[in-house]
Amino acid sequence: MTVSLTRHGAIAVVCVDHPPVNALSQSVRQGLWDMIGTLDALDDVLAVILICAGRTFMAGADVSEFGKPPMEPHLRNLVQRIEEARKPWIAAMHGSALGGGFEIALACRYRVALATASVGLPEVNLGIIPGAGGTVRTPRFAGIEAAVELVTTGKPVRASKAKQMGLIDAVIEGDLLEGSLAFAQACDLANVPALAQDRPIAPVGPEFWTNAEAALVKRVRSEAAPLRALACVKVASERSFTDALAFERETFLELRGSPQASAMRHVFFCERAAPRPSELNGVTPRPVRTVGVIGSGTMGAGIAAACREAGLPVILIEQDQSALGRGLANLLHINDGAVTAGRISAQQAADKVNGVIGQTDLTALAEADLVIEAVFEDLAVKRDVFARLATHCRSDAILVTNTSYVDPQQIFEGLSHPERFLGLHFFSPAQVMKLLEIIPTAQTDPTVLSAGFALARAMNKIPVRAGLCDGFIGNRMLKVLWAQAERVLLSGATPVQVDAAMRVFGQPMGPFEAQDLGGLDSADFQRKTARARGDTVFAPLAERLVALGRLGQKTKAGWYDYPEGSRQGQASLVVTNVIKEAGEEALIPQRTWSSSQIVDALLLPVVNEGARLLAEGIAMRASDIDLVNIHGCGFPRWLGGPMHWAQAGGLSGVVARLDALAHEGLAEPPCDALREHSFTGRAF
Ligand code: 3HC
Ligand code: NAI
Repeated sequence: MTVSLTRHGAIAVVCVDHPPVNALSQSVRQGLWDMIGTLDALDDVLAVILICAGRTFMAGADVSEFGKPPMEPHLRNLVQRIEEARKPWIAAMHGSALGGGFEIALACRYRVALATASVGLPEVNLGIIPGAGGTVRTPRFAGIEAAVELVTTGKPVRASKAKQMGLIDAVIEGDLLEGSLAFAQACDLANVPALAQDRPIAPVGPEFWTNAEAALVKRVRSEAAPLRALACVKVASERSFTDALAFERETFLELRGSPQASAMRHVFFCERAAPRPSELNGVTPRPVRTVGVIGSGTMGAGIAAACREAGLPVILIEQDQSALGRGLANLLHINDGAVTAGRISAQQAADKVNGVIGQTDLTALAEADLVIEAVFEDLAVKRDVFARLATHCRSDAILVTNTSYVDPQQIFEGLSHPERFLGLHFFSPAQVMKLLEIIPTAQTDPTVLSAGFALARAMNKIPVRAGLCDGFIGNRMLKVLWAQAERVLLSGATPVQVDAAMRVFGQPMGPFEAQDLGGLDSADFQRKTARARGDTVFAPLAERLVALGRLGQKTKAGWYDYPEGSRQGQASLVVTNVIKEAGEEALIPQRTWSSSQIVDALLLPVVNEGARLLAEGIAMRASDIDLVNIHGCGFPRWLGGPMHWAQAGGLSGVVARLDALAHEGLAEPPCDALREHSFTGRAF
């Protein structure tokens, strides 16, 4: 039974059991709907506890039902019926009471929760707003400011915070059912608390709304749902309960059918599918209990921190004591930053650091289950490290490189037990960035590959399998984006224009701002290696800037000038002249650029590269390419990633616009795979 009833004297206990997360599918709604009628008719029932089986309270509406014809009973009617029930309902929450699940709880007369539970309204993460009274009832319990925070960020809050905010009545220690029964028995049921609709909302001044909107616009850029959620709370504070519900409903329906909601649902399901690829079904990962990390520079320290996040003990290896000292200081710095930002306590930070043992001798790795190399990006250095690892580590230990561009097959060539080698490409900063590219070689054993995915899950990262090629998925696409950005400059746009266009599109920063932040030298190093290999390289402007010593923010000059003490770039006369000279030398015709033309010129070739990656088998699914771009390259989540974005806009248009750019010499023409998908209408 999805919804069952048990009796504890005068208290009825309604239990929802609908794995995996008790989402409010039609069967759950119907079961609850019928139960209200049953319980209302039972005179000897004094109160009803609503509890859930399994890992969580109801985690929200069933997202897989969105986009299908709605089925009765509707969630908003169910919520209202619980609110109007003859018996007081008590929501007893554990796990995550989210979205529609929390809206049901808000309609109950009382809410109790385990200390480990969290409650929230994460609908904005799906491109929608709460659709069953969340924006209307929350401010009546918690006030406007708290409601705005909850519905515009979508971030859940823990039970103790929810109690302080007025969203729940009690935090239960010990067993939830026993605690809830005791709570129900102690309640003065003749004097139940007022319903949300009968509670006043403390008003805020007009400047609150102006400030909240300005801050939100800055944060969410062109993402629609948070601003619409804010508008709903404002209406809830100004109009009647009924009018506010109607306004919320109208907004919800409008957003539910919007392209942004469809894109964010796509991302929601991709993110959940990524950690468990079907090709690894039935494969047991090799166990990983202890990790070694070699090199404690930018990446090594971040990777060690990410391993500690997963609760794994780490042995950190450096080439000498002074480098080790710097590496451990890097690690301390990362943890101190997390304490300052309020993400972890000082005690947690100390535990994380204490779980890392620094060493300069590879023999310390004799019992490690998995070792990640993050030394200099140099084939000879890496080969030397792996040759030594092969002798010091157990023959079943998993040996991993974090190389960005060196071919992992060359790194591992000739070493024994080739089945244990793997590439794991972290993105910088490794302890923060969610993306992890997982690169097996032709010989990698499935249990080793599976261990890579298991490690990603433990680190709370999004794993994406990538094939062997220069730059794997993420850097290969970024290279195309940067080359296109230069083409656009050479034909008449400015860095300021390009960066602004990409920010308006939704990127957190433009390509030139990003290069200045990361430094132009690492890409230059990679270009030199590629050229030595005989590859064609296109970065004429970046190469001139590097030759001038303009490496980005670290040299106070890159694509922009950075006056002393400022991280805010200013348009540079030097760069203007470099662009002009290079354009003239190459006889490139000049044109004017609108923002949307810039976006097309930068991103359609990225889509084209995505189609190539799929055709070459480097990426296994278009959704993987979307995840790489969202989690590794700043592509706006509300547009669903480049492949979703291109398909949603129509591939025939993409092909036509790419052809036009190619005709002007501003991009490569669409590849065969892209033309074919556009022609057949077959999804990527
Ligand atoms: N609808 C349908 N399926 C859902 C779901 C939902 N709301 N939430 C999770 N699932 C599914 C996942 O797709 C996954 O399925 P799979 O095993 O087949 O891949 C499974 O449940 C487990 O999900 P997770 O891997 O995410 O499990 P975790 O334990 O890591 O996290 C969770 C649990 C915190 C509940 C997380 O799943 C989550 O955040 N879910 C989304 C919650 C949400 O967005 N709720 C609002 C929905 S919209 C709404 O309620 C509108 C209303 O206002 C009208
Ligand atoms: P880094 O220069 O900051 O750190 C490298 C560290 O390795 C140094 O601390 C050095 O002392 C140590 N080291 C060198 N040889 C060693 C040896 N034989 N034994 C032990 N330690 C040794 O370099 P960074 O940026 O951390 O890069 C490391 C690797 O990660 C490179 O392969 C790089 O391509 C890759 N990478 C870098 C990213 C970035 O954004 N910096 C992103 C993803 C991957």
